[in-house]
Amino acid sequence: MSTAWFSRALLPWYREHKRPLPWRDQRDPYPIWLSEVILQQTRVDQGMAYWHRFVQRYPTVKELAEAPEDKILRLWQGLGYYSRARNLRTAARQVVEQHGGEFPASFEALRGLKGVGDYTAAAIGSIAFGLVEPVVDGNVYRVLARVFGIATPIDSTAGRKEFRGLAAALMDHTHPGDHNQAVMELGAIVCTPKDPRCGQCPVAARCIARKEGRIAGLPVKAGRTKVRERHFNYLHIGAKGSLYLQKRTGKDIWHGLYELPLIESDKAATPKRLAALLEERFGPGWVIVKKHDPVKHVLSHQVIHALFWEVQPPKGFKVPKEWIKVSVKELDGYAVPRLMERYLEVGRA
Ligand code: ADE
Repeated sequence: MSTAWFSRALLPWYREHKRPLPWRDQRDPYPIWLSEVILQQTRVDQGMAYWHRFVQRYPTVKELAEAPEDKILRLWQGLGYYSRARNLRTAARQVVEQHGGEFPASFEALRGLKGVGDYTAAAIGSIAFGLVEPVVDGNVYRVLARVFGIATPIDSTAGRKEFRGLAAALMDHTHPGDHNQAVMELGAIVCTPKDPRCGQCPVAARCIARKEGRIAGLPVKAGRTKVRERHFNYLHIGAKGSLYLQKRTGKDIWHGLYELPLIESDKAATPKRLAALLEERFGPGWVIVKKHDPVKHVLSHQVIHALFWEVQPPKGFKVPKEWIKVSVKELDGYAVPRLMERYLEVGRA
């Protein structure tokens, strides 16, 4: 699989849209390390004030190494998980005592600093030293699960391995620091957990979750619930004895079967919500003609709550290339899930 398109689309987007954070656009590992440790605890808007306090009070790693633990804990106050603050001081001392006051420039040596795990080592290594090491944090899991349509649970051994492998394969080798930050940035400001801003996404055209209406269902976490509750909105666009079908692809239920075009939502959609989703996905001008009664479809590990919507696209609507126009007479030739079959038997007349 060629993967160069990913970084090729992401890097220019990042350079234009990234938030101007004070630790960016320089390569001193000390402030970068501080920012990454703080950002594991909190969001950028809150973390910024903490980062400023740390670099003002302790402008160098040597000064941090010499600081009393109480003072560091006090500066950290409010961020929680205080062992991280203690680890900061221990790691600073390691840098001074074992590395002559300079952060080491290899992944393994960074990984040897107290409190520095795979994530932080990859972040510092790529941003400060240009190492080709992929970062995989919550934002990265979400972006990759959606863009590549991966339903392997992110909290499983197989999932961690798969996502790490993909993140490594996608790396841009000349700008690894910007590449890593671009993926995280996309997850932070565009590909958000709820209501992602797909209209602003540089890889929307290649996004499998978007194409298949699975955005709300990805990423998958195994530990959360045994039975996944999902909300499917099927779009019935009927004109002159025909309708549109789409083939399910990717690692999900009903692979290879056909269904009406689908938008998955995180809860049961109201007409207002569906109108918003339609506009977000396909642009303005949709008319909702009819909402059918909800249908519950129980599978072994999932419960599908399906809503069938009769809708009219706006004039001049450009039909996505995955949609196939099928006349009602030809419907029998397409393999559809039972849920779909039941609707089509009754609803198509
Ligand atoms: N979250 C944590 N570190 C980040 C970074 N360097 N860029 C964007 N988001 C982040």
